[in-house]
Amino acid sequence: MRGGVAILDFGSQYSQLIARTVRELGVYCELFPGNARASTVMRMGPGAVILSGGPSSVYDEGAPMPDPAVLEAGLPVLGVCYGMQLIALSEGGRVEGGHRREFGPSRLVPVPDSPLFAGTPAEGFQAWMSHGDRVVEIPPGYSVCASTGSLPVAAMENRALRRFCVQFHPEVRHTENGRLILSNFLFGIAGLSADWSMSAFRSSCVEGLRSSLGSGTHVVLGLSGGVDSSVVAALLHEAIPSRFTPIFVDTGLLRAGEREAVEATFRGHFGMNLITRDASRLFLDALEGVTDPERKRKIIGAKFIEVFQEAAAPLGATHLAQGTLYPDVIESVSFKGPSATIKSHHNVGGLPDSLHMKLVEPLRELFKDEVRCLGRELGLPPEIIGRHPFPGPGLAVRILGEVVEEDLETLREADAVFIDYLRRNGLYDSIWQAFAVLLPVRTVGVMGDCRTYDRVIALRAVTSTDGMTADWFRMPPEHLAAISAEMVNRVRGVNRVVYDISSKPPSTIEWE
Ligand code: XMP
Repeated sequence: MRGGVAILDFGSQYSQLIARTVRELGVYCELFPGNARASTVMRMGPGAVILSGGPSSVYDEGAPMPDPAVLEAGLPVLGVCYGMQLIALSEGGRVEGGHRREFGPSRLVPVPDSPLFAGTPAEGFQAWMSHGDRVVEIPPGYSVCASTGSLPVAAMENRALRRFCVQFHPEVRHTENGRLILSNFLFGIAGLSADWSMSAFRSSCVEGLRSSLGSGTHVVLGLSGGVDSSVVAALLHEAIPSRFTPIFVDTGLLRAGEREAVEATFRGHFGMNLITRDASRLFLDALEGVTDPERKRKIIGAKFIEVFQEAAAPLGATHLAQGTLYPDVIESVSFKGPSATIKSHHNVGGLPDSLHMKLVEPLRELFKDEVRCLGRELGLPPEIIGRHPFPGPGLAVRILGEVVEEDLETLREADAVFIDYLRRNGLYDSIWQAFAVLLPVRTVGVMGDCRTYDRVIALRAVTSTDGMTADWFRMPPEHLAAISAEMVNRVRGVNRVVYDISSKPPSTIEWE
């Protein structure tokens, strides 16, 4: 997509936030490692460049430097924090280290007519700082365009070159008018247009898939019914319906009604050539006697590949589609210091290179919320778009200890009671992930006139943005009471319900 923004990432924790904000403003952008070669960056045909912040000092040995050719290309540039210091130093200004680190809000006062600050309050506003070094002498041709009480050069500009630099972070929520400042740069200064939309992406992606997957190719996909693989399926079905086959493996470790729902949506509603494999017996046999969570995961992963491979073999597939998202891609390319750590995220679905198929990853450029938006655009039902994450090993990591069929039945019922309740009472969408866990203990209870000695269900509901950290959902007690009563009344073999009030860290979301 030409005319977008190339963001050079120097390792700031906020680089992804810059990318998201730019896209939310309707402008396509890509992140590159800060020291990427100009030829790599120019391939996307950028209309502007943003240099991100970063943890280094420009005076550090091996501090990441941009390829000078990127800055010499005549494009408008916005330097943020470390990016500002890079520009100051490379153009003959002076940067000073050794100051007390400034971290947090500062009152920023812009000069009256700077195009970067157009529309911001003249009396100043709060801007978020996070830096050690600072610019003490601006390069020739520049002028100061904002200051704070303790920082005379909080922003500088060279209008002739269309270069603007800010010491604060316009991309973080705590900076007032941050979005306005970024949009002033994108539209007012760089003259870009806001033409990045999901419907534009949908057409160009489908077109791209059609032309890159020429005749004679066949694509398979491990469809789980989760939002990512479902969106990939809908895209491929639109692009090459007769040469695309999604494969759904029923591991027997799924929730109630899951297979039926996937079949109804993808075979019924979309009319895809969906292959379903019921392999529950195979998985259960392989898990017999296994209690260690990591062994469970390994066994399930290996069996999944076996079943998938066996289903795909007769199709003579040439390509394997995967729902890799942009954060996975960035993780593997982002600048992480001189010995860049490269992670492989290619086997997100647990499918190995030995399948000898080329990868198709149509969501590589998208963030999760963009994938949801694309899913809506493609007509996927809201239940799929808003579905809570579900782990690959499924209920096997929610039955603590050995997985047996009877316990799967109990947990499936318990989970359905919990989730149905949350949906009926409008709580589901406020929760990032909710599920029931079957504990390997029995406790004493009393039902009617009889003493019972039955199982315990733990309820887990968390809020989160990415699953990396999470907090327990503050479920109102009247709902907890209603769920508990419904659970014990409806699920045989359960006489006690507990609610998990642990955050992550120190706990994890799943119990195994
Ligand atoms: P934890 O339990 O590590 O979970 O806090 C974070 C997120 O990852 C999911 N999860 C998994 N997903 N295979 C998966 O595909 C797994 O083995 C697995 N373990 C945890 C979990 O459901 C949560 O969304």
